[in-house]
Amino acid sequence: MSYIGQSVQKIDSVSKVKGEAMYPGDINLPDQAYMKILFSDRAHAIVEAIDTSEAEQEPGVIAVFTAKDVPVNEYGQIIIDQPVLCGPGSTKPYADRVRFIGDQVALVVAETEEIAARAVKLIRVTYKDLPVISSIDDGLQEDGELIHPDHGSNILNHVQIRHGNAEEAFKQADVIVEGVYETPAQEHAFLQPEAGLSYIDEEGRVTVVVSGQWTHEEQEEIAHALDLPLDQVRVIYPAIGGAFGGREDMSVQIVLALAAWRLQQRGINRPVKIIWSREESIVGHAKRHPYRIHAKWGATKEGKVVAAEVKLYADAGAYAYTSTTVMGNALINSTAPYEIPNANIDGYNVFTNNIPSAAFRGFGGPQGAFAAEQQMSKLAEMLGMDPVELRARNVVKEGSILTVGTALPEGVSMPEVLAVCAEKAGWQMTEQGWRRPETPAAPAGSNLRRGRGLACAFKNIGFSFGFQEECSATIELYGDAEIEKVVFYHAGADVGQGGHTVLKQMAASALGVPVEMIETHYSDTATALNSGSASASRLTMMAGNSIIGAANQALKQWKNEERPAKASYRYLARKTTPFEPMTGKSFPNIAYGYVAEAVELEVDIETGHVHLINVICADDVGKAINPDLVKGQIEGCVVQAAGYAVLEDFIQRGGQVLTKTLSTYLIPTILDIPDQVDSVILEYPDPTGPWGARGMAEMPFLPLAPAVTAAIHDAVGVWVDRFPVTPERMLAALGKLPE
Ligand code: MOS
Repeated sequence: MSYIGQSVQKIDSVSKVKGEAMYPGDINLPDQAYMKILFSDRAHAIVEAIDTSEAEQEPGVIAVFTAKDVPVNEYGQIIIDQPVLCGPGSTKPYADRVRFIGDQVALVVAETEEIAARAVKLIRVTYKDLPVISSIDDGLQEDGELIHPDHGSNILNHVQIRHGNAEEAFKQADVIVEGVYETPAQEHAFLQPEAGLSYIDEEGRVTVVVSGQWTHEEQEEIAHALDLPLDQVRVIYPAIGGAFGGREDMSVQIVLALAAWRLQQRGINRPVKIIWSREESIVGHAKRHPYRIHAKWGATKEGKVVAAEVKLYADAGAYAYTSTTVMGNALINSTAPYEIPNANIDGYNVFTNNIPSAAFRGFGGPQGAFAAEQQMSKLAEMLGMDPVELRARNVVKEGSILTVGTALPEGVSMPEVLAVCAEKAGWQMTEQGWRRPETPAAPAGSNLRRGRGLACAFKNIGFSFGFQEECSATIELYGDAEIEKVVFYHAGADVGQGGHTVLKQMAASALGVPVEMIETHYSDTATALNSGSASASRLTMMAGNSIIGAANQALKQWKNEERPAKASYRYLARKTTPFEPMTGKSFPNIAYGYVAEAVELEVDIETGHVHLINVICADDVGKAINPDLVKGQIEGCVVQAAGYAVLEDFIQRGGQVLTKTLSTYLIPTILDIPDQVDSVILEYPDPTGPWGARGMAEMPFLPLAPAVTAAIHDAVGVWVDRFPVTPERMLAALGKLPE
């Protein structure tokens, strides 16, 4: 019995449609107390003193906590550099500083949310303001105020790639294309703002019920800050309500755990509940990294790119979060998916007092890809060559060597994916190669101009760069002669993508039993082993392999008449390696997905409005375990990327956010999304994927913005190197408004 390739109905679709699914904000326990957080509201300051006496005397206040209550006052996923609570009396040096407006300073726990909110305002904090580093250029100043004095520089890290001999190769180039590209911050805008509940469970564990992307990482970070053994901390995810990378780093997890734990020490055994407002959510969690990318590429007149020089600067914001990994992906994508034999690439992550930047669908890929694809599109124009033909002459194929000096893992389908997308978009293969269709005509006499653009990309799967990818699954088989019941434990997070449906499908298929026979226990550190994160397009691949391993072991026990059969299997993916410091040489990724996208759009040259009419998105997913869910991922990704490309304008000035609400930060509504998305699902199996599946959740994001700007060029003849292409920016590009 196999469910692979079947669009099994999402297991939680009915409960979500009916409003019955329980998200962290919906879950209440008897006798719960409410927590509110005092955020710094200052971009950069030393917290000299915190006076909580008035707040503590407010009737209904149960407790107020500050830095001195945090045993090990630090956290961070890759680099541990952020205080749990900022203020004096802490165990860690420089934890008395706030570095962005969403830094947390104090917690109030009270009988009601209203009382807690009132009491937060009664806390008196004495700040000594420090100069605010509000941009990449500020951060690059050598004599600027240090945001992390113990780091010694506002440059978090610099990575360099040296491949071939770029200086020499530029001399062989017939044309050189240069550009400076700016990509924006982006807010995840998930439906469920940060919320959660903490309590001490029946076995005495500090338990947090919350939305996240990786239960076991959160368990570890909580245990570290509270200085508790791992098994004293439990993390449970109910329905999650969207994540997109924005839940990869902590928000309410540690402070919730801290509050319940400290209350218990005071003899108060009460659950603690928190729900962030939308404004707290927008200020309180990380954003997509804004990048500035300087690119110079050289090509021969036959259309072979021979050299690239790229410099990437990222606004990392106030803390490291996942900036180093994001930069790794941006570096690779800044010349990919093309085989460029000579390249000098430098990437700098720069600390600022802006909101920390971190993971967001694509994980650095979209930033690098925008520069690469703009360069490609401009190069095609300079060479008088069709943009698809130029791409086809340069895209990676089986055996291609990347700028990091190693070959791509097997299963490279970029040429095929590009060809399928181009054909669907009306390109024709002629004796001279690919030829684009006529630019579509707009209604005569109107202000509308139509254009078509195409771009392609690849997206790595996994955290990469030497991080050992792992994923575990546990399967128990019960019955006498026949298997009558299967109990399946997995920590993989269903962030809304349908992960739990796909995991169940894979478990049933690996065991050869009906899905109905499987009882699932998901996303609880008390019962499931580490699955790794639901991010980096990794979960289906990693979880599938863990499930196949556990199923095979359980079935073997079953054959040996062990009843019940119980097996846990830990899948370890192929090893990757980090950038070698001088050259960037590495084997960074275990696998990739390949994507090409064609956009048809309309520019209103009077209002500057850009409207997407049609998006064709061709994705090699290896094997679509559940085609409907794959389509959902493609459509969701395209819509989110369309917002990134033409609408979502996150503005920070002087360390303050000017777009703290969804009325000032606009995300796409039904009227803004593309009229049509054509999802083209291709299945070239990945040799390491379960049933050949590749990760695919992020890749449709990458080529959308550069396909849009290529289409804008086709429509109105100007290159837009900065986005989102809001009406103002479009009119400025047309010379109708000042820049
Ligand atoms: Mo994501 S950016 O892989 O959570």
